[in-house]
Amino acid sequence: MDETALEIDPRNAGVLREWDGEHGAYWAEHAATYNASVARYQPALIAAIGAQSAERILDVGCGSGELAIDVVRSTPGATVVGVDLSAAQLEVARHQAGGLPVTFEQADAQVHDFGTHAFDVIASRTGTMFFTDMTMAFANLAGATRPGGRLVMLVWRGIEDNEWLREFFGAIGRVLPMAPPPANAPGPFSLSDPDRVREVLHGAGWTGVNFTAEDELLCFGPDADSATTFIVGQMRWLFEKLDDVGKRQAEANLHDVMAAHAGEDGVLLGSGAWIVTARR
Ligand SMILES: C[S@@+](CC[C@H](N)C(=O)[O-])C[C@H]1O[C@@H](n2cnc3c(N)ncnc32)[C@H](O)[C@@H]1O
Repeated sequence: MDETALEIDPRNAGVLREWDGEHGAYWAEHAATYNASVARYQPALIAAIGAQSAERILDVGCGSGELAIDVVRSTPGATVVGVDLSAAQLEVARHQAGGLPVTFEQADAQVHDFGTHAFDVIASRTGTMFFTDMTMAFANLAGATRPGGRLVMLVWRGIEDNEWLREFFGAIGRVLPMAPPPANAPGPFSLSDPDRVREVLHGAGWTGVNFTAEDELLCFGPDADSATTFIVGQMRWLFEKLDDVGKRQAEANLHDVMAAHAGEDGVLLGSGAWIVTARR
């Protein structure tokens, strides 16, 4: 796709700047570390997607493409399209895909014209939480899904179920007082409230909305040093608000958290997600 022709909802301009800028580039550079961090969720998510031979699957907010690639690899005859805002991550995805029947495009899934009933399944691993207009985005995805088709997405539950975010925001928050990201705005908790998600999906043309709670450990690296470096980079948008002294203190606090959770299997913190499923 010609990047100059990228059509986005103007309300997603900030999201595009972030994900198609330095933040997305960081994710691209550290794709393997991110994939390893959420690896324990992958079997349940792939089973819930339940892709069948000849099905057409759309991976929304596919990032560097691991879900799309794992699905196509495990389902001979299926084809997958991955869309994301981040050109840097899409480059990684294309490189990883080799000759598999999976393609990757830069697109704003909230408004992109996918074609009517172009897919049997809409899938996503934490890629649907950043839309500025949830109902518009999920209606657009519904229009791209054949009648009877499926939506399967992994999203984070609330902060009370996510030790990793509680601990990381807590460590930085001792230097930079802040409220956790709200549940009604784009961000990690935007699809954490089942009532809100049900309302959005019903309003967007989906039915049979179902939530399965999954709880897994996330692994942030083999030791406290590498885990701290990974999260300092990923949360640079918070560190940028601090002066040098504050940055050093927040980094030291994070390192303490990582050290407290480091063990033989690496730095492990608890997390909780929903696998949300729905039908067209
Ligand atoms: C937390 S990352 C997850 C990436 C990937 N699904 C994975 O599991 O590795 C969220 C992704 O959603 C993408 N994203 C955010 N808003 C989007 C939009 N409106 N359309 C397409 N992708 C979007 C971001 O660029 C980012 O790569």
